[in-house]
Amino acid sequence: MKEMSQTFARILNRPDHWDFTGAEEFFVGVDVGTCRIKVVVVDEKGLPRAALMRSADVVRSGLIVDYVGALKIVRELMESVRGRCPYPLAKGATSYPPETESGNILTTSYILETVGLEVVSVIDEPSAANLVLNLVDGAIVDVGGGTTGVAVVQGGKVVYTNDEATGGVHLSLVLAGSLKIGYEQADRLKIEGKDRGEIFAIVAPVIDKISSIISRHIGGFSGLTKVCMVGGTCELDGLTERVSRNLGLEAFRPKLPQVITPLGIALSCLGGKTRRMCA
Ligand SMILES: Nc1ncnc2c1ncn2[C@@H]1O[C@H](COP(=O)(O)OP(=O)(O)OP(=O)(O)O)[C@@H](O)[C@H]1O
Ligand SMILES: [Mg+2]
Repeated sequence: MKEMSQTFARILNRPDHWDFTGAEEFFVGVDVGTCRIKVVVVDEKGLPRAALMRSADVVRSGLIVDYVGALKIVRELMESVRGRCPYPLAKGATSYPPETESGNILTTSYILETVGLEVVSVIDEPSAANLVLNLVDGAIVDVGGGTTGVAVVQGGKVVYTNDEATGGVHLSLVLAGSLKIGYEQADRLKIEGKDRGEIFAIVAPVIDKISSIISRHIGGFSGLTKVCMVGGTCELDGLTERVSRNLGLEAFRPKLPQVITPLGIALSCLGGKTRRMCA
């Protein structure tokens, strides 16, 4: 896991560090998110070889509302990756927030097919995250820009998933309203992490709302003690600790929580073989 995050930190948005040598085959994971679209390339062993992430505004509450805009960005990202990769990139995977299957699967699949990727896997986001995390018992919570996705894992299997619209966008909206500044400025302030204490106090009620979403979905599972927090919003210092306190459970975040789900999407192309990578 530590090795994976180091590799990822080296290659994310850094084409000069991409290395495609010595692999037999490549697989592409495409994550069309509320705030960002991510493309991750892994080899047949599950090792990350290239990764790009770009801001986007094509999703609302977990649903793609701007197909053309999403396709344009995915096409540009794939052109960038293909421009560096001397081998064909022909197979890919896409994802959806749990419970949005009917609105998302066909749309994201069309996007992949249009950019020349055969769709070999479609997976829900928290389950994708667990292909990286390999949690045996506990919950995985993906707090992205627009939604909070929850997966409960028992005996290494995902037994429950769900998703609700609350995420980093809501934190930034509350911040913007409270400080009487624009959304973009508020989002920047939140990410830069200056005036951490003041900002945290303003967004804390949204973190509590996220906690109550998690609690509602995991409440019915007895014996659950661990919650792994992924997604860009979990980069906010103090969020995991507050969720942990609210839930009365151990909550933790891996390094680079924002890349866990997109990496898992790419790994889903490999089926069961993925678990070798982080075991
Ligand atoms: N360092 C940081 N501190 C706080 N928030 C951050 C940080 N970095 C990113 N974010 C927030 O993370 C969110 C984006 O996370 P992510 O890329 O996981 O979401 P997404 O996949 O686009 O959205 P979703 O999965 O909900 O559709 C944004 O709201 C952004 O402001
Ligand atoms: Mg996401």
